[in-house]
Amino acid sequence: MTMPQRGFLRPHHVLALVLCVSATEDFDWTKNERTSFYYGTFPTGFSWGAGSSAYQTEGAWNVDGKGISIWDAFSHKKGKIFLNDTADSSCEGYYKFKDDIALMKDMKLNHYRFSISWPRILPTGLKSEKINEKGIKYYSDLINMLLDNKITPIVTLYHWDLPQVLHEKYGGWHNISMVNYFNDFANLCFERFGNRVKYWITFNNPWSIAVEGYETGEHAPGLKLKGTGAYKAAHHIIKAHAKVRHTYDMQWRSKQKGLVGISLTADWGEPVDISNQRDIEAAERYIQFYLGWFATPLFHGDYPQVMKDYIGRKSGQQGLGASRLPVFSPQEKSYIKGTCDFLGLGHFTTRYVTLKNYPSGAGDNYFSDRDLAELVDPQWPDPGSEWLYSVPWGFRRLLNFVKTQYGNPMIYVTENGVSEKMLCTDLCDDWRMKYFKDYINEMLKAIKDGVNVKGYTAWSLLDSFEWDEGFSERFGLYYVDFRNKNKPRYPKASVHYYKRIISSNGFPNQREVESWKRKAVETCSSSNQLLAAAHAQHNVTTMLNILVDPLIGHMEMVTEIVVPTVCTLCILISAVFFMFLLRRRL
Ligand code: NOJ
Repeated sequence: MTMPQRGFLRPHHVLALVLCVSATEDFDWTKNERTSFYYGTFPTGFSWGAGSSAYQTEGAWNVDGKGISIWDAFSHKKGKIFLNDTADSSCEGYYKFKDDIALMKDMKLNHYRFSISWPRILPTGLKSEKINEKGIKYYSDLINMLLDNKITPIVTLYHWDLPQVLHEKYGGWHNISMVNYFNDFANLCFERFGNRVKYWITFNNPWSIAVEGYETGEHAPGLKLKGTGAYKAAHHIIKAHAKVRHTYDMQWRSKQKGLVGISLTADWGEPVDISNQRDIEAAERYIQFYLGWFATPLFHGDYPQVMKDYIGRKSGQQGLGASRLPVFSPQEKSYIKGTCDFLGLGHFTTRYVTLKNYPSGAGDNYFSDRDLAELVDPQWPDPGSEWLYSVPWGFRRLLNFVKTQYGNPMIYVTENGVSEKMLCTDLCDDWRMKYFKDYINEMLKAIKDGVNVKGYTAWSLLDSFEWDEGFSERFGLYYVDFRNKNKPRYPKASVHYYKRIISSNGFPNQREVESWKRKAVETCSSSNQLLAAAHAQHNVTTMLNILVDPLIGHMEMVTEIVVPTVCTLCILISAVFFMFLLRRRL
């Protein structure tokens, strides 16, 4: 995920700080101080997990009958991904899933969230054309092994890797035909895996699919259709979600008794000055254009009123006959409404928000439609991705927002975590331990507020391919040495810390919690040494290869060309000499 309009953020840091200091009051549910820590445990049965996605981790991009996805095609184009990285091999998760399940077992995870690559099981995207049984077998084995180890699979059907053929032939999510094709794919997954999988997530983070894939073009398929692309793609995605959920209801629910949800990602938006009505409204727009864009249709049957008003008005000012935001018919509204058995929520960071008017004109787009500016506090920790500031209190607010806006749905946190930069090889990741500790604690407070959170998924199990950022940002609990072709995994300190949270089901008391960090740091220093040794060995091998390569080449030439040539010459010369001697005797 990348933050839109990154350039806007940094110049305003100081302004944000000054304004936020002047904001003294809080929302009702946050009467507690933002920084207070709450000791206590989670409800019995709370599910702890970690996550991944197919394209980010599997590798094996073109083996065993897999088709090409839009991400395979996009990452192979020069200039799209940082350092032109691709996920062709990535973590080699396709081959190493047994090792990875052993890591999960050691952490005592209750669930593992992963995604199914659509083109791995339907190479051309279409069920009617070809089903790749090898791909089916891979996911089937993965699911079986998770269950054998008492780890519940939570399966995402679409984590961004659309079959490339569907993009080339139809324009991907811009085309309404994706609704039926996606439904066929989902139906096949229910048929083949649904006897064992009970938690289905239709789409991961449709905001990103729509905005970054069809509006800014930073993500595959890289389309830049400003002002219309994202809204149209999102419209079809919402319909596709609803259709899949109805298919499950009609064909599978009574037999399989599973749940179908969606995973929406949203930052929290806090008004810069909470006594200023214009800031309050701007923050409301921020969150409605982000989470509400998808959640409001799915829970209430239509787009948020504020989106309809703003985009409609701006489209009118542009002289368009209709709003750039598509419209649901009354039948569609009732078809879409109420189609989430649970809400998957991905959350990483927070922004301060204030009003900023964008006069309507030629440059209208999703961002300017919102009429707001995003700001950050320069004191917020920012260890890795440029967009990701650690602001734990925003998580509690977002969770309470979901509770009040959408009728307190069942929530699974499907993604939460923090990254570090590629060059950081320190496995003693105290910033990540702090991030997890504080964010999980805010989630605990939200549960005490009455928010219905059933599970938490740390993002991510492994360092992996971070989309347009390539391998430059590491979100993993486990460090992956991408330079080594075996892609070995090394535990970061946060693995040990997260294990403690899991085994205590929360934060039992101050004395114990304070000892966790100390113990985690003790264990990670030995992993650090192992990794350093592996890096040193890798460097020596690389050096030797550079030095020895020409020698090896030289020796090959000696054995393959020089030796046979010299031998042949010797034989020839001896023969000539022998003839000469013979002649003289005669
Ligand atoms: C959201 C995406 O779903 C996931 O794939 C990505 O790694 C994280 N955000 C972090 O950017």
